[in-house]
Amino acid sequence: MASDTLTIVDNRTGKKYELPIADGTVRAIDLRQIKSDGNDFGLMTYDPAFMNTAACRSAITFIDGDKGILEYRGYPIEQLAEKSTYLETSFLLLQGHLPNKKELAEWRHDVTHHTFINENLKSLLDAFRYNAHPMGKLISTLAALGTFYPEAKNIFDPPTRQKQITRLVAKMITIAAFGYRHMMGQPYAYPDNDLSYPGNFLNMMYKTTEVKYQPNAVLEHALDVLFILHADHEQNCSTNAMRAVGSSHVDPYSAVAAAAAALYGPLHGGANEEVIRMLTEIGSINNIPAFIQRVKGGEGVRLMGFGHRVYKNYDPRAKIIKKVAYDVFEVTGKSPLLDIALELERIALEDEYFVKRKLYPNVDFYSGLIYQAMKFPMDMFPVLFAIPRVSGWLSQWEEMLQDADQKIARPRQVFVGNGRRDYTPIDKR
Ligand code: CMC
Repeated sequence: MASDTLTIVDNRTGKKYELPIADGTVRAIDLRQIKSDGNDFGLMTYDPAFMNTAACRSAITFIDGDKGILEYRGYPIEQLAEKSTYLETSFLLLQGHLPNKKELAEWRHDVTHHTFINENLKSLLDAFRYNAHPMGKLISTLAALGTFYPEAKNIFDPPTRQKQITRLVAKMITIAAFGYRHMMGQPYAYPDNDLSYPGNFLNMMYKTTEVKYQPNAVLEHALDVLFILHADHEQNCSTNAMRAVGSSHVDPYSAVAAAAAALYGPLHGGANEEVIRMLTEIGSINNIPAFIQRVKGGEGVRLMGFGHRVYKNYDPRAKIIKKVAYDVFEVTGKSPLLDIALELERIALEDEYFVKRKLYPNVDFYSGLIYQAMKFPMDMFPVLFAIPRVSGWLSQWEEMLQDADQKIARPRQVFVGNGRRDYTPIDKR
């Protein structure tokens, strides 16, 4: 009779073990009982980069990488991108259900009324060099933000937690835009409560002498869709950082700063910036075959914006972004790099190297082109990723704090260094 267990025979000892299987997993800790002798510590799993290890049970985001499916709290990303707004999606991620009218109005009101940041934070930004990378400024400012709210340490008090969540979601656009204004040597533009979340962000980015800034409706909507698409992506590198750092029970500002640092890397949120650099370097459609050869040649050159740890199919976000790009180009004019991107995609999708490895465009392949058309400098791209991802990080953080299975994250290691040896004085070495 079938049973939800796994039988293991340890050929070192001939002993047989039966481990329970739940949700398609065995618990790594159940392996500890498998010992070669009485002195043995017990069997562990070795899984660098968590290639096949579930570190949590989560009810937030579902991905089927083979089929190219992404759902937030059960809602397909395509429907959210078409019908929702970022703030509504943020509520969905954080609270687990779509808000009713009253809940949405309150959430919008609360976020809008927390967009101001303490004036002292401006001096912090001013301490950076004019050419400091905006992600460095964002990470530092997020960590500094926590020092203004010492009560944030009360992470097991739900109302205090909710207050910090509201503040973080709200202030992300202000911190991001202020970082940009600092880089441009422009005076900071303050939030305008009449505007939508993305509209307000554009206002703080680009307002100059006009009395009232009016965002372009197409660009405002495109940004909102991009925010929805980037809001969560289950256990990616930065979310894992958020959970790992948060598991020490530090305040959420410090954990979000750590998550933002993880996002900064070129293999994660920095990839959209790398895509533009790559397309610029390729320069012309004629140079694409030679570039593809370099990627395939094992020189360590990667086709940036392609490939994904989880998606072995077209990233559903990339499909939506490709469509949004055309709407944006109607307003801004077409990016000269678009033709190179389209041709690169066409060739890569037919090439055996990419087909065999199931490498498809990911979220970053087309997003950079949109950001560039909207006049965001390349250094701001990962910041644009970080703004909405805060909703995902905080949803995952709250879920972790309420999960009885979770403890401080602390992996094991396989020690491969020297055995015990005696210290030798320096003149004897
Ligand atoms: N170009 C060329 N070859 C690639 C690429 C690529 N973009 N991505 C993977 N490969 C090859 C890789 O060389 C390896 O080949 P082989 O088996 O012959 O050694 C095979 O495909 C498997 O790659 P991997 O590095 O083992 O896969 P991974 O799951 O560890 O890496 C990834 C995932 C996203 C880091 C990687 O695909 C990559 O570096 N892509 C480019 C950077 C990028 O676009 N990142 C954005 C990710 S999506 C947004 C986000 O989550 O931040």
